[in-house]
Amino acid sequence: MRIAVYPGTFDPVTNGHLDIVRRASSIFDRIILAISENPRKHPLFSLEERRFLAEEAVQGIENVRVETFEGLLVQYAKQRQATAIIRGLRAVSDFDYEFQMTLLNRKLMPDLETVFLMPSEEYSYVNSTIVKEVAHLGGRFDCFLPTGAAKALAEKIRGMKNPIQ
Ligand code: PNS
Repeated sequence: MRIAVYPGTFDPVTNGHLDIVRRASSIFDRIILAISENPRKHPLFSLEERRFLAEEAVQGIENVRVETFEGLLVQYAKQRQATAIIRGLRAVSDFDYEFQMTLLNRKLMPDLETVFLMPSEEYSYVNSTIVKEVAHLGGRFDCFLPTGAAKALAEKIRGMKNPIQ
């Protein structure tokens, strides 16, 4: 059983994330989409909201499940008997952070490989932060998000003064 963890903040899950999940699910036997609380990023959605939206989005992809985790990613991955971490790589600008994180994680847990997947080009510029900004400024954002996440973001924006984080 080849298990991979796909970690992130998922605030909220986007179509780009889903694209990566689908690609990963055809390579590994089981994917665990693992949501980090990540208070440093001051997420707009609570951990439970993010989990709910991600669960809704991956329904129908059989070998994917959603969990939340705290603490070190490598320890969590080991507990789950994962042999790989999945990360999406969109543009050169992602590289520095991913490079640093991969080498750090490798130092901490040498047996755990990080596997980078590229999303379809139509999602190569999409990230949760930019989508939240577009939403807050009144632009159309539903094309970037799974249906449930788009609805939830619209509701969140209606109830908030400054939802951009
Ligand atoms: O989607 P993001 O915000 O780029 O995901 C970052 C995430 C959650 C994968 C990263 O911050 C993480 O692994 N956090 C868990 C704590 C940890 O292990 N930190 C050391 C590696 S950076």
